[in-house]
Amino acid sequence: MSTTPHDLREQVRRRYAESALTVIDGSCGCGGGGCCSDDSAASAVTSERFGEVLYDVEQRGELPDAAVLASLGCGNPVAVADLHEGETVLDLGSGGGIDVILSAKRVGAGGTAYGLDMTDEMLALAQRNARDAGVTNVHFLKGLIEAIPLPADSVDVVISNCVINLSTDKAAVLTEIARVLKPGGRVGVSDVVAEDHLTAEDRAARGSYVGCIAGALSRSEYVAGLEAAGFEDVSVEFTHEVADGMHGAIVKGRKAG
Ligand SMILES: C[S@@+](CC[C@H](N)C(=O)[O-])C[C@H]1O[C@@H](n2cnc3c(N)ncnc32)[C@H](O)[C@@H]1O
Repeated sequence: MSTTPHDLREQVRRRYAESALTVIDGSCGCGGGGCCSDDSAASAVTSERFGEVLYDVEQRGELPDAAVLASLGCGNPVAVADLHEGETVLDLGSGGGIDVILSAKRVGAGGTAYGLDMTDEMLALAQRNARDAGVTNVHFLKGLIEAIPLPADSVDVVISNCVINLSTDKAAVLTEIARVLKPGGRVGVSDVVAEDHLTAEDRAARGSYVGCIAGALSRSEYVAGLEAAGFEDVSVEFTHEVADGMHGAIVKGRKAG
């Protein structure tokens, strides 16, 4: 029997609810990817490619331990987002809140950082982490990245860390990013991206969907999707290999002004 998009999303939700609970109950340090990256990959290898190691010591020092432990990303979007005081930032699939907290500190009291996630357990963990970090200019929203619960033209910067590959409707996500961004607004996300020669079957052979590998777009699919959604100056830069022919990447674009 084939897996429907609804089933796949439910598998993703369950997987990340479990990850959040292991941090909340203290039974697992998810950081380093040990329990949160792809099941099929060796954890000693994935620990260098996912999670807290992708943040420098100074950034980790700004965060509560649980926010660092809950890090499940494949990059560091805050490091490349060039955030400014007063801006409004939206983090898609905000997980334990690591990038929302770092963003909130960079945009300051005059700015706002939103985190959007579909998983109740992650939202609870992120709220706790933001409280412990002492940031008040944050709002965590429950919802889908395919139907962002914010008005059009309301956000300066959209970031995301290892989430778009998990979406069952990536075209909808990219269209929604374009809708909520103000004219001239930026998108800067970290994601797993495949080399163009890898077929969907090749990608699935390298890791699971919930482990952020099988659902990854290729570089040219990402570029085409962003351009179709109305982005200019699109770039996809591979930063580190996470599986054979598959990379952590920084994906950027600008909404036409
Ligand atoms: C791999 S984790 C990354 C979390 C966080 N960005 C980080 O770097 O630690 C993926 C997160 O995205 C959320 N997520 C996955 N698909 C989603 C969707 N379609 N809509 C909203 N949230 C989603 C999951 O609940 C989970 O918290």
